[in-house]
Amino acid sequence: MVKLTINGKKYDLDVNPQMPLLWAIRDIAKLTGTKFGCGKGLCGACTVHLDGKPTRSCITPVNAALKSKITTIEGLSKHNDHPLQLAWHEHNVPQCGYCQSGQLMTAAGLLSEHQSPTDEQINQAMSGNLCRCGTYPRIKAAIKTAAKHANQIEIKQDLSPVIAER
Ligand code: FES
Ligand code: FES
Repeated sequence: MVKLTINGKKYDLDVNPQMPLLWAIRDIAKLTGTKFGCGKGLCGACTVHLDGKPTRSCITPVNAALKSKITTIEGLSKHNDHPLQLAWHEHNVPQCGYCQSGQLMTAAGLLSEHQSPTDEQINQAMSGNLCRCGTYPRIKAAIKTAAKHANQIEIKQDLSPVIAER
């Protein structure tokens, strides 16, 4: 039995500690917003945060996450209202949607580090997240909109994921 903290909630999971974290999140904890793409750390579909840092859960063993706060797309915001989620909606970003939770988690990591990212910073941060549908231009526009909106409000929003109350 291992203990994981996912989106602020404690889970006791009967899993092999060497199991990829992605399996524990999806198949055991039943948080299916995080997707399996390549399974080799190449596509970004499985991206979650470990202590706020975007991490490929398909190549991270469960035992590497025991002491971390894990955040999945389900915990990005309490009411699906993270500035990125609002901007994704505004720009109608997703096509099939498969890659999008990974895209959002990577973008959230970027905005936590750079509240007004440059084109180069966006390109660099997002370069490892693949989208078969080619939504890249809309993703980029939505990241810029999210950064602008967050910077326009008087009290800056915390762009790091909000831990969901469950
Ligand atoms: S499924 Fe993890 S990077 Fe592709
Ligand atoms: S929206 Fe279809 S793979 Fe990205």
